[in-house]
Amino acid sequence: MPSAVRLVVDAVAPDPSLIAEAGAALKAGKLVAIPTETVYGLGANALDPAAVQAIFEAKGRPASDPLIAHVDGPQMLSMVAATPIPDHARLLTESFWPGPLTIVVPRHPDLPSAVTSGLPDSAVRCPAHPVASAIITAAGVPIAAPSANRFSRVSPTSADHVLTDLGDRIDMVVDAGRSEHGLESTVVGFDADGAIVLRHGAIPLEALAEVVPARMLGDGTDPDKSKASPGHDERHYSPRTPTVTIAAGLLSGATEDDLAMLGRPGVAYAGYDDSETPLPDGWTFVSLGRRSKVAEVAHGLYETLRSMDRADVELIVVELTSVNGLGRAVDDRLTRAGSSRVIRNLAALTDVITS
Ligand code: TXA
Ligand code: MG
Repeated sequence: MPSAVRLVVDAVAPDPSLIAEAGAALKAGKLVAIPTETVYGLGANALDPAAVQAIFEAKGRPASDPLIAHVDGPQMLSMVAATPIPDHARLLTESFWPGPLTIVVPRHPDLPSAVTSGLPDSAVRCPAHPVASAIITAAGVPIAAPSANRFSRVSPTSADHVLTDLGDRIDMVVDAGRSEHGLESTVVGFDADGAIVLRHGAIPLEALAEVVPARMLGDGTDPDKSKASPGHDERHYSPRTPTVTIAAGLLSGATEDDLAMLGRPGVAYAGYDDSETPLPDGWTFVSLGRRSKVAEVAHGLYETLRSMDRADVELIVVELTSVNGLGRAVDDRLTRAGSSRVIRNLAALTDVITS
């Protein structure tokens, strides 16, 4: 049975006494899951090494995977980062904070090294969610928070998801309903040439590039592992059920013979409402929404992956969007759900399905 206390708050105008309760618990070293506009975060006082350590234990996360410090504004930024921050970083925060942008900048010397896994840089984000922001202000300290899921699993977009994964391991969850974006923040590092996207997320590269020179590290399916975010493993965001990722449109070209070869019971297939996809016998269609509305796909993605995992299926097949902008972040997560292998032809798919 979950032992975590659930505080239900209004997402826009939360009860100040509940915000104060959550803030005080964080300040006192407790683990409190908080709603943000991206996903739910597992929060702890970033300045309290024992509380930070407890995050790693609750998640089962390796100590080598650093955490994002969440702040309520520029003043708190100076508690976790060396200031002034680099110009390109400052320009991005002026455009995208508060919001789903995480900057990786030189750390403040007093930040406990557990937060950054001993790295010289600190990841910092100022969330836009009114509840997250109010709780950080109430705590009066920066809040270290990874996504509130067990390590390598699908991120939580509701308090129920958090309780399913961590209910017996944390003190409290603040429930403000479904997360708006449904995908994590965009993590951005910097060099002399500009911004480098280390993890695709809710703010597309194209939007960053309107403000500063910006490029991506690898293409999401083939990241440069030497520099990508340390915790960005190949198998991440994964359902427990074996999951296969296929290229966009792969099944549209299937003949009757191909479909006959692919037939088998117990396959859940996650595809799109706005493409005609013939399905083999034994496959059940699960909607990810419309490719033409990729923000909707992002919003529902983790809930859909979790619901497929709960259902009694043997194999999950997910199709990429192949859409630019936010579609790249969706495809990054779908690719990792399939252990970073994308099946691009029907012969290879038949091998996987029938083996
Ligand atoms: O939207 C989000 O970012 C959510 C909410 C709760 O804010 N948080 C989140 O945290 O997704 P987490 O821990 O699940 O993912 C943080 C990512 C990891 O890939 C981590 O490796 C990377 O940020 N990261 C953290 N500190 C870093 C650093 N100093 N250098 C490079 N990457 C870093
Ligand atoms: Mg995570």
